[in-house]
Amino acid sequence: MGEYHVRGGNALSGEIRVSGSKNAILPILAATILTSGTSVIRNCPKISDTYVSIEILEALGCKVKMEDDTITVDSSTANDRCVPEKLVREMRSSIIFLGGVLGRFNRVKISYPGGCELGVRPIDLHLKAIREMNVTLNEDHGFIIGETTGIKGASVNLDFPSVGATENIMLTAVLADGVTKISNAAKEPEIIDLQDFLNKMGANISGAGTDIIIIEGVKKLGNAEHSVMFDRIVAGTYLVAAAITKGGVTLTDVNTRHLTSITSKLTEAGCEFEMREDTIRLSPPKKIRAISRLITLPHPGFPTDAQAQFAALLSIANGASVIEETLFESRNKHIGELSRMGANIRLAADGRTSVIRGVPALTGAVVNARDLRGGAALILAGLAASGETTVKNSHFIERGYENIDAALSSLGADIKYIA
Ligand code: EPZ
Repeated sequence: MGEYHVRGGNALSGEIRVSGSKNAILPILAATILTSGTSVIRNCPKISDTYVSIEILEALGCKVKMEDDTITVDSSTANDRCVPEKLVREMRSSIIFLGGVLGRFNRVKISYPGGCELGVRPIDLHLKAIREMNVTLNEDHGFIIGETTGIKGASVNLDFPSVGATENIMLTAVLADGVTKISNAAKEPEIIDLQDFLNKMGANISGAGTDIIIIEGVKKLGNAEHSVMFDRIVAGTYLVAAAITKGGVTLTDVNTRHLTSITSKLTEAGCEFEMREDTIRLSPPKKIRAISRLITLPHPGFPTDAQAQFAALLSIANGASVIEETLFESRNKHIGELSRMGANIRLAADGRTSVIRGVPALTGAVVNARDLRGGAALILAGLAASGETTVKNSHFIERGYENIDAALSSLGADIKYIA
């Protein structure tokens, strides 16, 4: 349980390369179990969620090695069907292994993921859709046991465009008998990356990135090589780091098409951008402008994973801003901690809408990270605050940010990690 010590006041400057996407690599690693061949995946982020996924693959009998940012998975020896409870508890998004294991073995036993810092995190949409594919799913003693005489393609409609449910249905459908059509599918870019990887393995999928995805079942998958897309939330976090410190920063290895909702809100806050295909440069305003309304929505709406970072930024804006978090019922734990740093934020009774009245400056304090993105937001606040900020519970942040201290230091921040 380490902590970050941040001394605020430095305007960030320079150039930084953005790492591979956590929310793309997790479903892609789960997909490697579908083949009895070998998968080589490049540009993998060195974060704890990646390492937990590797542990799960090894628990399922795969041979996995990670060299620098390349992961090689030999799934020829995959034999177990139980995804260990300890690992599922550690990373609830390991529910994505349900579809991969079921698709490969026609059977699966996986611990029920349960809730996390963001709320209940139900998986009803995953289970309802997969049950329509000739699969029996029983929930028993905290486990989900899945069995089928053969997965059948089906037309399924998602009541809500759930990212995880869309991905789990895709993995279940790849080797099914027949065609699966997902309506009201999630359109996040990470789902396009998953489709690209699966098709490289020999799958037959189209429509990812739209609300209709078609998966034509194939008999077998083979070997594949793939380079994971950039992490658009890490990119957004670094852009906010530049804006909140009134620094000019360039990000490389990005796809600016996937940053539109974030850059448009930063433009509203007074930032200016120079964009080329894979690089983006932010120039900050003299004073951050308030944003009258920021509402989180499924892609291509504003991403919930960037909401906390904007709460930190708007804490020192000129005027009052409103943030509405519509996806998760308790993604506001950073507000109390930002208030310790002098922010003026009021959370409405619905627990989802916050009104942020900008203050001239924040002051450093000892604060606790309580989830991944909220923790990152506290670091951003520390970069702008006067004096020293200690952000405790670094393990939350290490789940999704590769060496955030080294990355921000390379841009001129005064930040140290203390184990
Ligand atoms: C993915 O989580 C991401 N995680 C989350 O990123 C991200 O916040 C979320 O999508 C939304 O974009 C990964 O990709 C590993 P959902 P996921 O299913 O799949 C409700 C981060 O910080 N829902 O789209 O769990 C659910 O309660 C993480 O990187 C159901 O009701 O998100 C929530 O309100 C946090 N029933 C909404 O849908 C279900 O069966 C969005 O959930 C599934 C979801």
